[in-house]
Amino acid sequence: MLIRACLFSTALFSLAVLASGCASNDERADGSSEEATEEISPRIADALQDGEEPRALVTQARATIEPLGNSGLSGTVTFAPSDLGVQVTYMLDGLTEGVYGFHVHENGSCANGEDGTVGGAAGGHFNPDSTEHGAPNLPARQRHLGDLGNIHALSDGRILGSFNESIASLDGPKSIIGRALIIHANEDDFTTQPTGNAGPRIGCGVITGVEA
Ligand code: CU
Ligand code: ZN
Repeated sequence: MLIRACLFSTALFSLAVLASGCASNDERADGSSEEATEEISPRIADALQDGEEPRALVTQARATIEPLGNSGLSGTVTFAPSDLGVQVTYMLDGLTEGVYGFHVHENGSCANGEDGTVGGAAGGHFNPDSTEHGAPNLPARQRHLGDLGNIHALSDGRILGSFNESIASLDGPKSIIGRALIIHANEDDFTTQPTGNAGPRIGCGVITGVEA
């Protein structure tokens, strides 16, 4: 737990530093920059200018993963805006070595479904473009927005990693906030419709915005 706490502190601290760094860069006449973090400050500035609700100041999101059934899976997944979309970072523990489906599902609930399916209240994969299920490296409209692929558990049960998700957003109609992050018992085959045949739901967390 201590290690996780430190990692998060570091991440938040980095964000703060980057945000302040952006502020000083705003004075550039041509507005150009190659820094991936440039977006953070202008986004906040725009939100303030437009008089939007404080909700618009969300700069990160987080899902605390709880086990479904007796899987033993737990941990945290964070989502931060990046130059290429949303940076997804996962720190999970409690599974046996293997590959597990990893999706954003449409409803922000980890309850059982009406038919008794464990985690079924989360619904299907988040799919605002009404497309087919696919691999996470496919472009928009060739996969569900929620198709984040698979995650790999090490022999000691830990699942650690980070990747960029190109379609998802933390605001607007494609926002993943208020939806559920689901981990499945099996590997997503990227082919079977509409689920990837990833099997039962073994972990779940509602994705919640973290205000600046
Ligand atoms: Cu899923
Ligand atoms: Zn899908």
